[in-house]
Amino acid sequence: MRVSTLFTAAASIACATFVTADGAAIVAALSNVDSETQELGSRVQDWNGGLLSSIPIVTQSAHVLSAINDGTDTADDSDPLTTEEAISIGSAVNTLATTVNATMTAIINAHDDFEHLLLAPIVLLDLKAQKSASDDMSSALLAKVPTALQAIASNLAAPIDASFNQAIEVYSISNGI
Ligand SMILES: *[C@@H]1O[C@H](CO)[C@@H](O)[C@H](O)[C@H]1NC(C)=O
Repeated sequence: MRVSTLFTAAASIACATFVTADGAAIVAALSNVDSETQELGSRVQDWNGGLLSSIPIVTQSAHVLSAINDGTDTADDSDPLTTEEAISIGSAVNTLATTVNATMTAIINAHDDFEHLLLAPIVLLDLKAQKSASDDMSSALLAKVPTALQAIASNLAAPIDASFNQAIEVYSISNGI
């Protein structure tokens, strides 16, 4: 309930308050991670299970990783965030969590097709790299969030980690193949 109150506050603050370049740059970086992750999800969802058509998925997976790394760099370069900035970033993280959930669900559903092509271990490596990069991005963001908001910020990021873990668990089963 506190979180939804926060979002209502975010909506009004977004209209009323000037957001400095750092917060805006982080929101833009998160929005980039979100669209690259969405693109990965749609490519996996539209995939016909063929080997050649898996190549654009592998390529897009690399784009997701580099978008996450850019997000970390942007957060590292940022000054400590104001409360208003932290709230708008929290909202972007929440949006990203929904996207990551959908994309990880698509990847989980495609497990058998990847396994059939012996590509499951490659997907697993990608997932682990993305999860680790995403953890780094969360830490970089949290370091800039005002102390009073850190618990909330951390709760907002937690579902992203949980989604990666679900997919990693599914792909870990095919490890021995
Ligand atoms: C997606 O979110 C739903 C609802 O919270 C949850 O039950 C499901 O486990 C999540 N799936 C993934 C892959 O994160």
